[in-house]
Amino acid sequence: MTSSNNKLFGLTGSDKQKLIDRIRNRNRKGDGTETPSKHKFSSKMEEIPEEYYKLEFLPGVKQLQIQMTAAEKFGIENPFFRVHESVAGNETRIGDKNYINYSSYNYLGLCGHPKISKSAKDAIDRYGTSASASRPVSGERPIHRDLERRLAEIHKTEDCIAFVSGHATNVTTIGCLFGKDDLILHDALAHNSIIQGAVLSGAKRLSFPHNDYAALDKILAENRTKFKRVLIVIEGMYSMDGDIPNLPEFIELKRKYKVFLMVDEAHSLGVLGERGFGIKEHFAVNSDAVDITMGTLSKTLSSCGGYIAGKRILIENLKFNAPGFVYSVGMAPPSAAAALAALELLVKEPERIRRLQKLGGTFHQMATAAGLNTGYCQGFAIIPIITGSSILSVKLSNVLLEKGINVQPIIYPAVEERAARLRFFLCANHTEEQIAYTIEILAKELHKLKKTSLFTI
Ligand SMILES: Cc1ncc(COP(=O)(O)O)c(C=O)c1O
Repeated sequence: MTSSNNKLFGLTGSDKQKLIDRIRNRNRKGDGTETPSKHKFSSKMEEIPEEYYKLEFLPGVKQLQIQMTAAEKFGIENPFFRVHESVAGNETRIGDKNYINYSSYNYLGLCGHPKISKSAKDAIDRYGTSASASRPVSGERPIHRDLERRLAEIHKTEDCIAFVSGHATNVTTIGCLFGKDDLILHDALAHNSIIQGAVLSGAKRLSFPHNDYAALDKILAENRTKFKRVLIVIEGMYSMDGDIPNLPEFIELKRKYKVFLMVDEAHSLGVLGERGFGIKEHFAVNSDAVDITMGTLSKTLSSCGGYIAGKRILIENLKFNAPGFVYSVGMAPPSAAAALAALELLVKEPERIRRLQKLGGTFHQMATAAGLNTGYCQGFAIIPIITGSSILSVKLSNVLLEKGINVQPIIYPAVEERAARLRFFLCANHTEEQIAYTIEILAKELHKLKKTSLFTI
């Protein structure tokens, strides 16, 4: 963890030093993870050092080992990669027990819905399990275009293009549309896929403080004329914090500075707006005020994949030029069919959206009333409970599991150490009783853990 040792699992002072010393001493005994020595390039093959061709020296290996060792020393069970034996909605089954679940993006409780599962099965019977080629080559199926047309209707855009992964959608779209003479401005809390896309594009990349359109205004005033094209990327809802940007203000900046605006609706589709159509509906803004609307199929839509909706010219361009579309297999037919069936249910059953919105408000109010720190949360479907320590978050998650509640910790380096948290995703199927029980246990156990000596090795 080299430069980030000071943030190791939230440990302070002598405990942290003791732990690091132990790990370092073990490494000196020869387990092969000592920091690579400085190497001057040499033309001799025999002088190529081990760290350039052995897997144990790959970046990240050592950091992971330190984190695992720390967890082991503190007797903390790894809360990641828990195996779920059922559909994960408001409840889930892990091992042989049922839990109240807050760890899935199944916002409207649609995953596992019989109509969606049937559509996926029918698509398998008709087209098989794979598109077996990229769509331009011979992977195109009617279900692809049906899905894209429906997504375009919902976002009120001319057209839409679907990709096999949400993450890859951002990477390949931003990566292919922008280049070295351009500037990409993204929120400080932007999703990794947005940042990876910006890096791939070769454009200059700057972040602006979270949701701060006034700060973005200043950055644009100073920088706009130094670049050809400028892209602002924001998200419809921020998944770590459960808050939303003031979209009309960002649209204003887009117009003022003659730049492009992209909105990632991964967590806002199905969650925001009267009909769940996302942040544009929430703020009642004109659809074409946003140049590039991005979304994923893996959350509300209970499938797998991502999409871009926008003007026909943009979609055509991506169809022929985005490497992640042209050189990648078409979306699996059952995935496309499941997403389309989920979209139909979203439209037909708006009460799911109203219920989710109500539950989000209830959870948020009860958490605040119990004295819990919910950060920037605005009471939609994502509620962070900030503990300020990775180790405390992991312990709390494990204690809650013992009490029948499954919720994941978000720890450094996914967020800054002082922002470590538990993150609750709500589902339209949660009951008020489940929420009341959760808040009660959460407040009690957090209080208890804060009083115990967490940091003793
Ligand atoms: C804001 C945002 N964009 C993109 C993605 C990537 O989507 P997927 O998980 O469907 O690949 C995520 C995933 O969580 C996300 O939160």
